[in-house]
Amino acid sequence: MDSLIWTDNVNRYFKSGTEKLHVLKDISISIEPKSLTILKGRSGSGKTTLINLLSVLDRPDSGEIFFDGIKVTALNERERDKVRRSNMGFVFQAVSLISLMSAYENVEFGLRVAGFDTSKRQKRAEECLNLVGLQKRMNHRVHELSGGEQQRVAIARAIAHKPKVIFADEPTAELDSHMGLQIMKLFKDLVTNDGITVVMSSHDPNIIELANHVYSLQDGEIVNE
Ligand SMILES: Nc1ncnc2c1ncn2[C@@H]1O[C@H](COP(=O)(O)OP(=O)(O)O)[C@@H](O)[C@H]1O
Ligand SMILES: [Mg+2]
Repeated sequence: MDSLIWTDNVNRYFKSGTEKLHVLKDISISIEPKSLTILKGRSGSGKTTLINLLSVLDRPDSGEIFFDGIKVTALNERERDKVRRSNMGFVFQAVSLISLMSAYENVEFGLRVAGFDTSKRQKRAEECLNLVGLQKRMNHRVHELSGGEQQRVAIARAIAHKPKVIFADEPTAELDSHMGLQIMKLFKDLVTNDGITVVMSSHDPNIIELANHVYSLQDGEIVNE
């Protein structure tokens, strides 16, 4: 099968004072469509840096990255922005919802920002909140929801514009293990039933077990295949 994303010898450096940190070292990985891939590794191993590159928020210092057949490392900022907005959804560790808005309003607002017609927004927002099992909580404000429910709203918002891939940087880190597993089950369902590709990071062994593919990062290097 053709990969959805692949990288060819990607390197990323950061400056820290006078020091040059080699944060990602010759990373060559591929992400299959309709799969759940986990980037695993300790804090500081480079997971977030790699996710930022795969999601074209950041650019490598050397090496190439391809998304859906497009060499995204050759694109300018506007073009990358377009690739990101139309094909990618994001879920973060600390939920980034607007707490005074309801669950429904958060998802609907995301669709408004993405440029969806008013007529389509309501239906799609409800559809996505159904998908994540929040149909009965749609009109609750975010601060009235549990951490796990808030993360579900964030996922509903991330999938609402029908992206090909969702990037989730440690989405379960702030949840207890039961809620964490429920979020994982939701990701698995989205992969199996809705054909979404999920790329996430975690260091929890119970969660890593559920992946279709795992890449282990150690000091910026992939140590498994
Ligand atoms: N913008 C930055 N400037 C300098 N150093 C950075 C920057 N971003 C990340 N780093 C460093 O790169 C390394 C990897 O960071 P990160 O990708 O955040 O790891 P992880 O997500 O696995 O915890 C760390 O040593 C971190 O301090
Ligand atoms: Mg990180």
